[in-house]
Amino acid sequence: GLKLTFYTTLAGTLYVSYELYKESNPPKQVPQSTAFANGLKKKELVILGTGWGAISLLKKLDTSLYNVTVVSPRSFFLFTPLLPSTPVGTIEMKSIVEPVRSIARRTPGEVHYIEAEALDVDPKAKKVMVQSVSEDEYFVSSLSYDYLVVSVGAKTTTFNIPGVYGNANFLKEIEDAQNIRMKLMKTIEQASSFPVNDPERKRLLTFVVVGGGPTGVEFAAELQDYINQDLRKWMPDLSKEMKVILIEALPNILNMFDKTLIKYAEDLFARDEIDLQVNTAVKVVEPTYIRTLQNGQTNTDIEYGMLVWATGNEPIDFSKTLMSRIPEQTNRRGLLINDKLELLGSENSIYAIGDCTAHTGFFPTAQVAHQEGEYLAKILDKKLQIEQLEWDMLNSTDETEVSRLQKEVNLRKSKLDKFNYKHMGALAYIGSETAIADLHMGDSSYQLKGMFAFLFWKSAYLAMCLSIRNRILIAMDWTKVYFLGRDSSV
Ligand code: FAD
Ligand code: NAI
Repeated sequence: GLKLTFYTTLAGTLYVSYELYKESNPPKQVPQSTAFANGLKKKELVILGTGWGAISLLKKLDTSLYNVTVVSPRSFFLFTPLLPSTPVGTIEMKSIVEPVRSIARRTPGEVHYIEAEALDVDPKAKKVMVQSVSEDEYFVSSLSYDYLVVSVGAKTTTFNIPGVYGNANFLKEIEDAQNIRMKLMKTIEQASSFPVNDPERKRLLTFVVVGGGPTGVEFAAELQDYINQDLRKWMPDLSKEMKVILIEALPNILNMFDKTLIKYAEDLFARDEIDLQVNTAVKVVEPTYIRTLQNGQTNTDIEYGMLVWATGNEPIDFSKTLMSRIPEQTNRRGLLINDKLELLGSENSIYAIGDCTAHTGFFPTAQVAHQEGEYLAKILDKKLQIEQLEWDMLNSTDETEVSRLQKEVNLRKSKLDKFNYKHMGALAYIGSETAIADLHMGDSSYQLKGMFAFLFWKSAYLAMCLSIRNRILIAMDWTKVYFLGRDSSV
């Protein structure tokens, strides 16, 4: 037994050390060039975004086959599944980000990165206008592309409900998590300056989360954990006055999960004293209270000290501009694509993946964006192989060779498969070291809940991380919280 443990630990340590060494010592890259050695022009591939779709594509792609340029205002990849754990300090923000430059440097070919925001596209001229953001100046330039991959994500929708902007905090980017953390700490300290039973103290200690999707649920659960497991020790009286309210317009939370899991999560929230208010739609947001409509008939005001808004997605301005440039783009919810992820109306040059697209049949998740990115890497690889064959055909004078090459080209073109999404299931953390998992394997589905699902949730997220460095940091954060509690000081 002891021997086995020793050898397993040794093998594990060697494996991790080897992977870490590989990660921190990238090999030489093939430089960008105008043409391949045989004279074929090297195509310009511009990727917009550094999120799940774009980075999954970049990691899988043989970047020596194209001149790749990545454009994004965010110079790092963000592992969103653990973002709800960061405002309260269960996970450190640095543990879930990975610089795009180090990801790009580990690919086979040289990749250019431009810290800029795409503003507009001219699909006919194949140009994308970008606004670069530097210290003190903004300048607009245009980039030519042969292939453009749009993976710009989405923003949190407000349904134009007045007062959301300016009063609520979102939870989409790392800055949002930082803002929530600061607001939380400030609000708690502010509340403590009022005497017990003061209505202002009660208001400040009411934390409202709007939206019972996975973002709202996971954040409410993390916040309640922080109150129950940490603040109970350090501020025993004040923490008892804190209240987390989760508001959902529909009759249930977590609607993408199996009914038994929804019931389990709702019961756990009741036990953990999260005040779940379903059939309650927020209509107006004021600086200190929200006006809600309950069961479609009663107007109720709820005072809050901090408000977190997580009611789903809507397209960003760039996606809307792109839609306006192409007549075939008729869906206001997102970019329309075909089953090869090509943008309708610009099929031969623009692809769109991830949350910026109007998905039918599946939710806008990292799982989908990741599979789309990996699929596109394969397609771009195959497309170049076809172009190489066509180039050889063009430069060959031997008729039999030309006809063999033509057959090969036709065969390869017919083999360019459609994107086929494989749904693995959904996972969510619901608090008190419990999670729910709705797993899909082939035609069967399995539901896990409780402590075991929590361990599964942890292992699945560690496996999903894009680098060994992130895996180690996240595992260390969990261990640290287990022994030392959360550190959510700003
Ligand atoms: P994103 O990952 O959002 O990336 C968009 C990128 O585009 C960013 O780099 C952004 O800076 C860049 N960009 C924005 N505007 C421009 C522009 N004008 N020009 C160029 N670049 C631009 N999904 C799951 O499957 N499992 C989970 O557990 C899960 N947890 C989540 C938790 C939270 C808190 C959130 C908010 C989402 C979660 N999701 C989860 C959903 C998942 O994060 C998204 O579906 C996924 O990020 C979509 O990938 P994407 O590449 O389309 O967009
Ligand atoms: P969502 O769209 O999943 O849920 C938003 C919820 O807000 C809905 O239930 C909606 O009914 C409710 N809502 C809308 N307007 C409201 C109002 N005015 N008042 C009260 N409630 C209102 O959005 P979310 O959670 O931000 O997730 C976005 C995407 O990211 C989803 O596709 C989700 O699957 C994915 N995601 C997945 C996670 C996971 O798998 N663990 C974690 C977080 C996000």
